Amino acid sequence: MTSTWHFFILDYAFSFLCIFLSSFIVVKIIGSCYSFKNSEEGALMLPPGPPKWPIFGNLLQLGQLPHRDFAALCEKYGPLVYIQLGNIDAITTNDPDIIREILRQQDDVFASRPRTLAAEHLAYGCGDVALAPLGPKWKRLRRICMEHLLTTKRLESFGRHRADEAQHLVKDVWSVAERGEAVNLREVLGAFSMNNVTRMLLGKQYFGAESSGPHEAMEFMHITHELFWLLGLIYLGDYLPIWRWIDPYGCEKRMRQVEKRVDDFHAKIIEEHRQRIQVIKDEGEMDFVDVLLSLPGEDGKEHMDDVEIKALIQDMIAAATDTSAVTNEWAMAEVIKHPQVLKTIQQELDSIVGPDRMVQESDLAHLNYLRCVVRETFRMHPAGPFLIPHQSTRSTTINGYYIPKNTRVFINTHGLGRNTKIWDNVEEFKPERHLPHDGSRVEISHGADFKILPFSAGKRKCPGAPLGVTLVLMALARLFHCFDWSPPEGLRPEDIDTTEVYGMTMPKAQPLIAIPRPRLAAHLYN
Ligand code: HEM
Repeated sequence: MTSTWHFFILDYAFSFLCIFLSSFIVVKIIGSCYSFKNSEEGALMLPPGPPKWPIFGNLLQLGQLPHRDFAALCEKYGPLVYIQLGNIDAITTNDPDIIREILRQQDDVFASRPRTLAAEHLAYGCGDVALAPLGPKWKRLRRICMEHLLTTKRLESFGRHRADEAQHLVKDVWSVAERGEAVNLREVLGAFSMNNVTRMLLGKQYFGAESSGPHEAMEFMHITHELFWLLGLIYLGDYLPIWRWIDPYGCEKRMRQVEKRVDDFHAKIIEEHRQRIQVIKDEGEMDFVDVLLSLPGEDGKEHMDDVEIKALIQDMIAAATDTSAVTNEWAMAEVIKHPQVLKTIQQELDSIVGPDRMVQESDLAHLNYLRCVVRETFRMHPAGPFLIPHQSTRSTTINGYYIPKNTRVFINTHGLGRNTKIWDNVEEFKPERHLPHDGSRVEISHGADFKILPFSAGKRKCPGAPLGVTLVLMALARLFHCFDWSPPEGLRPEDIDTTEVYGMTMPKAQPLIAIPRPRLAAHLYN
């Protein structure tokens, strides 16, 4: 997924004057509404925050990397900051204690989601799990994910496919290494994540030897990328109603077009699965869509609605592929940038796995240093810089400050990992900082201290964390065990660029290109 804020930032520069003039007449009215709202709350004060413009609030103070802007605001105003985005109340924090308050102590209040236009158009009217507001529908669909799709037993049953995909990954890289060429790691890691997810979800591999064909793969990739891009977009129409009316760049129109194409694609998947359902029942392995087609619907209906199935398919693809691919690319970039870290990872792999076989999933729990590398990657480059923004369902207080109902919550995990009050040398990639003194296993997906939150916590925490951790560790373990890595000709390790772009996930600005050199016997790669 690519940067989205530049869209928003360039938009306002061009249109600032016209909107400002056309809206001037209503400034006073809206302004008086705001002051009424605040004075109505009597003595309770909103958290501190920067001064704001009429109508735009603080929108104009944000640039292309809003997570960095928000962190700077926390630096200036304190751990909990109030901002106004157009007509929307919002708070941001990079502080573990406030995050614990939001996600644990007041989870009930803050576990909803804003209804953005992208979520309305592209997540079946917020009828999915990830973008649905808190309520019985979200609860039911989330329970289906937890009890039928992401169970330990079902994930174990796909272990063979994951092992196949890990071998494909190694083989793909090996064929490039044999020619002495550089590998585009974004492409191979993207294909690895996508294949793992689509095999589990749809029973299909989209890239590689047994793929469903180049045309379908390209169509699938194209739609998925458009979808990610639009879902990550922070669209001015969500904050300034007048913008929606103008829609100068046809953004909402594009959302509707993608909505239609995605829906056609999902309808085709469901139809294909319906046609073969009897065969599957008799002899086959059930993928996620087969499972969803076999479940009863709401209110005693025999089957789930197609719309619910489509929304769940979409969630799984969107939530699972990009997050693990982006994390893997960052981890590879940081390790290649730090040759001593690569050496330490390989020493661990050589002692635990040895040179005569490939890494298996059962090895992953014992690779403590590699687990630290993943944790350090999440500290510096969390896949979701703001998790998925939450929203409050009623007014409340935090640290004595008033938080209105329907406040949008930007938990800044990027800022948390670089918060100098809790971490030393924040810009330094130092995996050993996570090694427990007692030699116990390094936990990746959770921690009681709220200092790293790759998968969040509370009601909205990621239900795919165990699978996500396995996909990340497996790809890295295989790539570091099988190959030595160096930057492309002419670059030194320290030249590897680690700037990010903002989006729903936060990838490296430039795809990572590196040169692999095999380090195991040739027969192991085939
Ligand atoms: C490295 C991999 C992954 C990372 C870093 C990750 C991270 C996250 C984060 C930060 C959230 C938002 C939590 C919040 O808003 O508080 C989330 C939500 C979610 N994730 Fe993941 N995720 C990963 C993999 C997966 C996988 C493999 C699946 C499923 C197959 C998945 C399914 C979901 C779903 C359905 C939600 C929405 C939960 C809800 O709103 O109730 N994720 N994930």
